[in-house]
Amino acid sequence: MDISNGQLWRYSSFIDNKNHSFNREEIFKNISKKQIDEAYLSISKWDNYKPTPLLLLNKLSKELNLNKIYYKDESKRFDLKSFKALGGAYAVEKITKGKKDITVSSATAGNHGRSVAWSAKKLGLKCKIFINEHVSDARGKAMESLGADVVKVKGNYEKSLIECIKQSTKNNWQIVQDVAWKDYMLVPTLTMAGYSVMMKEIVDQINNDEITHIFLQAGVGGMAAAMVAGAARYLKNIPKMIIVEPDSAACVMESIKTGKIEKINIERESLMGGMSCGEPSLVPWKILKKSVNYCITLPDDDIGKAMRLFANAVFGDDKIVAGENSAPGVISLIASCNDENIKNKINLNSNSNVLLIGCEGDTDQEMYQKLLKE
Ligand SMILES: Cc1ncc(COP(=O)(O)O)c(C=O)c1O
Repeated sequence: MDISNGQLWRYSSFIDNKNHSFNREEIFKNISKKQIDEAYLSISKWDNYKPTPLLLLNKLSKELNLNKIYYKDESKRFDLKSFKALGGAYAVEKITKGKKDITVSSATAGNHGRSVAWSAKKLGLKCKIFINEHVSDARGKAMESLGADVVKVKGNYEKSLIECIKQSTKNNWQIVQDVAWKDYMLVPTLTMAGYSVMMKEIVDQINNDEITHIFLQAGVGGMAAAMVAGAARYLKNIPKMIIVEPDSAACVMESIKTGKIEKINIERESLMGGMSCGEPSLVPWKILKKSVNYCITLPDDDIGKAMRLFANAVFGDDKIVAGENSAPGVISLIASCNDENIKNKINLNSNSNVLLIGCEGDTDQEMYQKLLKE
């Protein structure tokens, strides 16, 4: 199969960040080195902790004439199969500080809530999860099986968050949300500190190799900003940071264009469900606005195909279970290499060592199987 056929791998738009000026100390004002280090110290002591694999997509790098393509495989993250296991769970542990008579609550589209529920179960806490009507029953059940009380709310994510805040305030529950707003910054920052463990592991796994480019998927930007902060903390060089979003929910790109947080209207929900977000979260935004070099957006068209190529070991020697939100990194890399303008501009060449984040496995098995069979 010709994996780099230009006509098959589409991107929608590409921009560079006019305000780019990477500054480690500025980043550490939003998430401190201490917060990053403490997260690794705590999480690396959890039962069954082990770094997720860093795989090489050697067949693809040969085809694209790049030096190396690393793929961080979060499908192997505990039993939760996504990087989200690091964030919400760590925030729960940190804010409840060993107390037992606490109920934690969260509004979620799935993976974050699973992380919160999983942690509550480990720590013997009660857990209330608010999902909106679009969240699949399978995802709701997964949280129930971790002991959470799952409440379905009519409407969208925002409605579920409003209900979560209302009930939590009334009942004195501790809200553990991965999205920040003006008066709610600590928990989302701790969540990001948890995610940054991925970068610590990567640094240990690359043996002094130098990463030149990182493709970072973004929903509200928490994962991307955590990786940027992790790069600031652990890497000697600073790779080019490229944000990847669905073209139907490109809130980070729109914000990078104007230099301030922009809220966009999502008219069509992307297949990349975790990334279908209309507004960047405040703490991530403060980190991303000057650290990101480029933004690229994608239609949903190639997601299923990329997932199948991962599953069939076409990109590298390993068969990889890559969920919908894991596919856009590789798609944007191939699309960038197939476009001479972008390729030259971002300097992708035979010396490049690219890092892709495989943020999830088959977290929604039904959807995964459906897309694999298409
Ligand atoms: C499963 C999942 N959820 C959510 C996201 C987005 O994360 P964030 O909202 O922190 O940007 C991703 C990846 O970008 C993901 O893979």
